[in-house]
Amino acid sequence: MKVTLKINGETLTLDVPPMMRLIDVLRDRLDRTATKEGCGEGECGTCTVLVDGEAMNACLIPIGQCEGRSIETAEGLSSAAEPTALDRAMVERGAVQCGFCTPGMVASVRGLLRRVEKPTEAEIREAIAGNICRCTGYKRIVEAVMAVTEPAEERR
Ligand code: FES
Ligand code: FES
Repeated sequence: MKVTLKINGETLTLDVPPMMRLIDVLRDRLDRTATKEGCGEGECGTCTVLVDGEAMNACLIPIGQCEGRSIETAEGLSSAAEPTALDRAMVERGAVQCGFCTPGMVASVRGLLRRVEKPTEAEIREAIAGNICRCTGYKRIVEAVMAVTEPAEERR
């Protein structure tokens, strides 16, 4: 099956089995390995990417459903060479330890920040509720997001 889609702004046409999972296309066909696979069952959020701006689990999406859609992965959302404010805040606040959850966590947060300019702590926690982190606890991650959305004196 031919599928035309955008990956981080680049239009690609792929010849792939329609039921091949998006995460397998990203990692195995396109060598975009920033997106990680944890559970493979939609439970851990490690594979989260943005699909038309919405955070979704790449392990649950058949590539056949991606025709015409825009996929954003950690390769497009973050850059080691030019880190975003969110990337810097996460590192500075110790919100990245082993880093396995981080690409999915960043995708969920970036999806939230496109919908809500200044999310509350509750909204941040809700946005990352599907992203499991076994290292940091969520406090530092939430603090990092709040650090880039509100001046310190406005935080509650
Ligand atoms: S690998 Fe997709 S949700 Fe866990
Ligand atoms: S930093 Fe290790 S799982 Fe989140």
